[in-house]
Amino acid sequence: MKSGALKMSWARQYMPVLGEIRKRFEADKPLSGTKIAMALHVEAKTAVLVETLAAGGAEVYITGCNPLSTQDDVAEALNDVSGVHCYAKRACSVEDYYEAIDKVLDVNPTVTIDDGMDLIHRLHTERRDLLDSIVGGCEETTTGIHRLRSMAAEGKLEFPVLAVNDTPMKRHFDNIHGTGESALSAVMITTNSLIGGKWFVVAGYGYCGRGLAKMAHGLGAKVIVTEIDPRRALEAHMDGYHVMTMDEAAKIGDIFVTTTGNTSIIGEKQFKNLKNGAILSNAGHFNVEIDIEWLESHKEGFEQRDGIDTYIINGKRINVLAEGRLVNLAVPKGMGHPIEVMDLSFGLQALCSEYIKNEGSALSGGVYDVPNEIDVAVASLKLKSLNVSIDALTEEQKLYMNSWDIGT
Ligand code: NAI
Repeated sequence: MKSGALKMSWARQYMPVLGEIRKRFEADKPLSGTKIAMALHVEAKTAVLVETLAAGGAEVYITGCNPLSTQDDVAEALNDVSGVHCYAKRACSVEDYYEAIDKVLDVNPTVTIDDGMDLIHRLHTERRDLLDSIVGGCEETTTGIHRLRSMAAEGKLEFPVLAVNDTPMKRHFDNIHGTGESALSAVMITTNSLIGGKWFVVAGYGYCGRGLAKMAHGLGAKVIVTEIDPRRALEAHMDGYHVMTMDEAAKIGDIFVTTTGNTSIIGEKQFKNLKNGAILSNAGHFNVEIDIEWLESHKEGFEQRDGIDTYIINGKRINVLAEGRLVNLAVPKGMGHPIEVMDLSFGLQALCSEYIKNEGSALSGGVYDVPNEIDVAVASLKLKSLNVSIDALTEEQKLYMNSWDIGT
């Protein structure tokens, strides 16, 4: 077996939820006649989702959603799966990136699956001629949902999109555990740096940030959190972390990870105050949280080692991982989220694709919550695979929970 196929077979063994969905898809072919366009991180777990959709009868056209996250051997292996066409290439130019997006769209897809909204953006700008054929879409990440909600608020989103990211089964596992473990391990494997005893700065105490803070704390780091939301800042404070502004944190931090989904979190002002040897990385969706442009244009720099660029600012070394792109996928050894976590996220994507294919034409343009039954179904499949049983409400309990006049 070639390396891409081997990676897929490794991932598949730890993806029981997709395995169960695949059995039904193979038997019932619920996605027959569906052309699915996808822009996701092309690596082994995504490939298992793609083959599941193809097993359900879909024709799948996929490219990457980040120029540095594609694994070329997996992209090659995907092209060997019947009904699948993969155009992703690692470290491609911006032009090649959009050319691949266009190739995926050229087939007149009926369903889109995005991680960051690149397909939907293209469809609503340069490729509006294709909008009529789309029944609906699914969006994987927080930043994509933010962008979609902004579009919808302006009345510009022309088809229904399911907010897969916003489900409990996504956020509480993928964003918290997935980003927490994988971003931290990417920093460690790329730098060979100790975490214990370090000042570890997490920008943003959202779902991703709190996972990361917990993991770093677990390894003995002194965790600093920066926030703009007073409630989340207070949560971080009561969870035992040091809360301060980024200006203050810049002077203290040894290792920084941004997870805000916002722009310009660490820039010129902070760069000048960083300690010698500071390590900067980003786990948010886009490479806009650390001002790489300023570093590139103002100061001397060199590639320190694979995945690390070093810049000399005021005589001090600043080390930036993966060009400020999402660190858990974009460093050379980054494998993305743990397999079991993506089994849940992609179990949701598989069931959401089926739902939007069946129901999309009845819905108008906008962002929709994933139906609760789908979220619960994914949790139930996972519990079943773990052989874990839970209690069910008794009739008495149902009555009690639904009543308003049963008191003392
Ligand atoms: P979230 O909305 O739960 O958290 C973001 C937090 O950042 C919020 O608490 C917000 O108040 C805070 N924030 C915003 N601007 C800030 C600023 N200027 N300074 C400090 N804090 C600020 O979002 P979530 O789910 O944690 O996602 C964060 C980012 O990570 C998004 O871009 C998302 O797409 C991405 N993501 C990345 C993954 C990965 O594999 N690396 C996986 C899942 C999400």
